[in-house]
Amino acid sequence: MKILILNGPNLARLDLREKSYYGNLDYKQLTDAITAKAGELGISIEIKQSDSESELISWIHDAADKKQPLIINPAAFTHYSYAIRDAISMLKAPAIEVHLSNPLSREEFRHTSVVSGVVQGTIAGFGVESYTLALIAMQNLVQ
Ligand code: DQA
Repeated sequence: MKILILNGPNLARLDLREKSYYGNLDYKQLTDAITAKAGELGISIEIKQSDSESELISWIHDAADKKQPLIINPAAFTHYSYAIRDAISMLKAPAIEVHLSNPLSREEFRHTSVVSGVVQGTIAGFGVESYTLALIAMQNLVQ
């Protein structure tokens, strides 16, 4: 079973974002590091990114239909998308929320995650490692 990894808006332009939160990482480096770790762990993954709430929701629907595990960085949608929360609630397999930065140490509007309540757990603040830790956690959850 492939683990689906979804990345939300503005993550494909990481190289242009605040260096103090995202470092010098670009999106390709992020996906390459996730792919390398998945290979090391012997996990099969599929990584997708969209700036569109509707596209992310349709991918989550597909994961629900396929009973596919999900690792998701909903990016800014984390803080206000009840639609993404409701879609995640439909999943039959585990879901993990990840963030590169630690939203709780940033602006107040980032202190709320509307998706945290419908995932198995959240890993935030470790950069690329948030994703690789999530892969390890997911491997244990689905074993
Ligand atoms: C983010 C944190 C969000 O608050 C922000 O809107 C992002 C990225 C992160 O990975 O640190 O786009 O999800």
